[in-house]
Amino acid sequence: MNQEIYQNLSRRIGENHLRRRLTGQVESAAKFYSKGGFASFHIENVELLPVVLKFLLKMLFLDKRGAENALDYRVEQVPVFIKNLPPAFNGFRVLQLSDLHADGMADNGQKLISILKHVEADLCVLTGDFRFLTQDDYAPALQRTKEIARAVDAAYGIWGILGNHDFIEFVPELEDAGIRMLLNETATITKNGSRIYLAGIDDAHLYGCHDIAKANENIPDHASKILLSHTPETYAEAAEAGFDYIICGHTHGGQICLPGGIPLMVNAKCPRRFCAGPWRYKGLQGYTSRATGASALPVRFFCPPEITVHEFNRQQK
Ligand SMILES: [Fe+2]
Repeated sequence: MNQEIYQNLSRRIGENHLRRRLTGQVESAAKFYSKGGFASFHIENVELLPVVLKFLLKMLFLDKRGAENALDYRVEQVPVFIKNLPPAFNGFRVLQLSDLHADGMADNGQKLISILKHVEADLCVLTGDFRFLTQDDYAPALQRTKEIARAVDAAYGIWGILGNHDFIEFVPELEDAGIRMLLNETATITKNGSRIYLAGIDDAHLYGCHDIAKANENIPDHASKILLSHTPETYAEAAEAGFDYIICGHTHGGQICLPGGIPLMVNAKCPRRFCAGPWRYKGLQGYTSRATGASALPVRFFCPPEITVHEFNRQQK
């Protein structure tokens, strides 16, 4: 990271956050390349897993089906009822693309781009994991992400957060492309003089650099507030902070599931009911995307990739 970018980010998010992120990235890379021990185990870093999986699927003649499934996008329309939602935001549509793992897309994102040109939304959120691997040249992932973002038409902008596959070095390039990143920060979305608040946190799953209190500190009481969190593992903290709605990804809904969408694994330390689709915890409503892309191996079974459109509605008393 060059000095100018370091200083800009340091001024913006604070030296502590930036140093923790960069140290975490270096430690994670060291474990990845040294292969680590049990203490450093992270499923994303197990290189043997996709190789074994690919071999097994080929033996079972399921490899082509799995790859086709990974491009079988479903547009999910999700109604959300939010108390105190300003009337101006009734019907406001938030398009979510999650876990693009953009450099791993078998068709270079072409099918997704063709679908996105017909999806109507007011605002778009990218909920982390732009890159396929956790450690690799990130230029192809950012290039593909920018191509995908250009297909999005959202008058209130494209907003993003970092996931566990992402480096903080991605931020300047994504922002230069018009994707505004939220690093434990909050944006005010104004429509016809009314406001809602969109907070976004850094990755909680691998880097533990999320700070919900900081993202929440300038949001007025009784405002409608939405949180972007890469992983649903933050559900309890988000509820405690009084968020109305949390939009998550990371789990891929399991990606490879048994019939009925029952995941073999979800790679998240939270109850499974938070790992796909809509859910609720105390006063918090949440939604976890099954992901738009795929990781480890670009295959899916009984868990189609999704393009999510959250439609905000004013909750009637
Ligand atoms: Fe992730």
